[in-house]
Amino acid sequence: MSVLTENNISLQNEISILKKAKNAVILAHYYQEPEIQEIADFVGDSLELAKKAATTNADIIVFAGVHFMAETAKILNPSKKVLLPDINAGCSLAESCPPEAFQELKEQYPNHAVVTYINCSAEIKAMSDVVCTSSNAERVINSIALDKSIIFAPDKNLGRYLIEKTGREMLLWDGACIVHEAFSIDKLLELYAKYPLAKIIAHPESEEHILKISNYIGSTSGMLNFVKSSQQDTFIVATEAGILHQMQMDVPNKTLIPVPAKEDNSCACSECAFMKMNTLQKLKACLKDESPEIILKERLMKAAHRPIKRMMEL
Ligand code: 13P
Ligand code: SF4
Repeated sequence: MSVLTENNISLQNEISILKKAKNAVILAHYYQEPEIQEIADFVGDSLELAKKAATTNADIIVFAGVHFMAETAKILNPSKKVLLPDINAGCSLAESCPPEAFQELKEQYPNHAVVTYINCSAEIKAMSDVVCTSSNAERVINSIALDKSIIFAPDKNLGRYLIEKTGREMLLWDGACIVHEAFSIDKLLELYAKYPLAKIIAHPESEEHILKISNYIGSTSGMLNFVKSSQQDTFIVATEAGILHQMQMDVPNKTLIPVPAKEDNSCACSECAFMKMNTLQKLKACLKDESPEIILKERLMKAAHRPIKRMMEL
């Protein structure tokens, strides 16, 4: 639902003026607040956003998303200024994989290929052979030679799903997303009993029991495409609730029901507190001050660029 208060409209206007004056581009993830998605030049899933970041002519990239996404944009554009409205907008999944511990695992399995989900820090990317996102993970795993063993990090839920899809054995890092692990299977089943014709759609970061009963599993963009092309008119949606803004605009006459979290919360849905740290106010301030900026060491950027480039080539 769009939040077009007078204050938001005036902030959006100020952001537009600043954006033009500074030749900046605003890239936003589907989990951002609706008022941020509305002002963005491009809204997408993490793969689409990385691709946009790689091809923009803007001097400044404002990344309305979380830290690992802005870092990826910086790695793809070392000479550009990349801003993140709230520098503390992290990701539980990225944080679940500290570089020192990951290095130890790599040393135990020196001959394994290392495939990492893009939701990780630049340090982890730098230790990887190839990066993937939820929309290309299967293709990336299938690109690894069959005689090569694989370490997959940091998301164990996506990893388990990929083992099933590709038939490849993989050593999984024990990481997870707090938002996608919060969905209640009991509440989902209650909803399904109420709407038996509904299609259940889920992001692959969700737990195994949720994925098992889902009719479609895919990235945020994949889920949007599925809902648009399906003949069905009711969907039970297991991903962060921010997606519902774009989804409802795409299918205004269909019914979208977010899967509630295990814990009771006011919106009966799951929101990523990190994604929601960005606000219009902070977005305006970061454009005006050109800060907070993503700063990475040259050597780290070079090392992290290689596995991202490999993913882009695939
Ligand atoms: P997508 O790649 O599907 O946009 O997912 C990003 C993410 O952070 C999911 O929690
Ligand atoms: Fe990270 Fe989960 Fe938030 Fe996505 S939804 S940014 S994986 S904490």
